[in-house]
Amino acid sequence: MESGRTSLSAFLAQESSTIQAEYRSNLPQLILQLSTAIKKIAHLTSQGALAGALGSLDSQNVQGETQKKLDVFSDDILIETFKKGGLVAGIASEEVDEPISIPYTGEQKPFLTLFDPLDGSSNIDVNVSVGSIFSILPAPRGREPALADYLQHGRKQICAGYAIYGPATMLILSLGKGTHGFTLDSASQEFFLTHPNIQIPAETSEFAINASNERFWEPPVSRYIAECKKGKTDVRGRDFNMRWIASMVADVHRILMRGGVFMYPRDTKDPSKPGRLRLMYEANPMTFVVEQAGGLGSTGRARILDLAPESIHQRVAVILGSRNEVERLEQYHRDDDVKTKLNSPIP
Ligand code: F6P
Ligand code: MN
Repeated sequence: MESGRTSLSAFLAQESSTIQAEYRSNLPQLILQLSTAIKKIAHLTSQGALAGALGSLDSQNVQGETQKKLDVFSDDILIETFKKGGLVAGIASEEVDEPISIPYTGEQKPFLTLFDPLDGSSNIDVNVSVGSIFSILPAPRGREPALADYLQHGRKQICAGYAIYGPATMLILSLGKGTHGFTLDSASQEFFLTHPNIQIPAETSEFAINASNERFWEPPVSRYIAECKKGKTDVRGRDFNMRWIASMVADVHRILMRGGVFMYPRDTKDPSKPGRLRLMYEANPMTFVVEQAGGLGSTGRARILDLAPESIHQRVAVILGSRNEVERLEQYHRDDDVKTKLNSPIP
């Protein structure tokens, strides 16, 4: 404690009894290592053009997207931190083709870390909030991890969260028992607990979606958004508001703070992609945090944390946020799937 405030390390010590016994001694240490990396990325992003880190590189990541300098710098900071920290048996990053597994030398390293080092990178050059998303999974015992070891479903996460580099830098964290928010004190460079036990209201009146994709949406999404837009005059009986920042971290953060629903649904824009966002680096960790705050995460047809991952860079549809709104969207998907079945010719 410092002047009545709970620092991140004090919080981790207090929460120790809620951490599974086998991770109790080293999970807090891993989170502190991560928080050090986050402070470095926060410093770089706060320097904007002065850090010489804005703009694009010539390279593309494995997803075929142009890499920003800050994407790569953030990735390097996180990879170096985890390699040096000695607690991680393997690292998977959205920016790197294959996971980086650390050779097994007889010393058990308990964790795998997976991350999106700089989410919302289209916002970097325009000075709008970006973030880092992370997921911590158990490592296999007594050997170097293979690719299959990373492909664990979201309920296996030991810890997940994100940092948001906004007007204030915040770290949002769940160790599987509630979701808690910490704010970086720029003077002491310490994170302090400012948002204990965050709760997302079950029913809210705000949605977040990229409406420029409207003509590609599936019928259940079109139905939901049309009803929200009709507001008071239609079945919803109340008016809705819309927000879209285009940084998942910032859009989901707003929902954690005041409720709402975030959607990047499956659409027909590129039929080869079942969604835009990545299961392992974005959907799973953000759903973990949202569900620990009383919300829900779904593809519309399945709960995100129950999905069996098929590949490390897999994309999925994401519907995330206030419980009642996500359940309504799931119902609309079921209604539509039944209708489609009824209308399809008998084989
Ligand atoms: O990481 C992908 C991402 O940048 C998310 O942070 C964000 O929600 C989404 O893409 C924005 O997509 P679009 O540019 O289609 O609005
Ligand atoms: Mn991202």
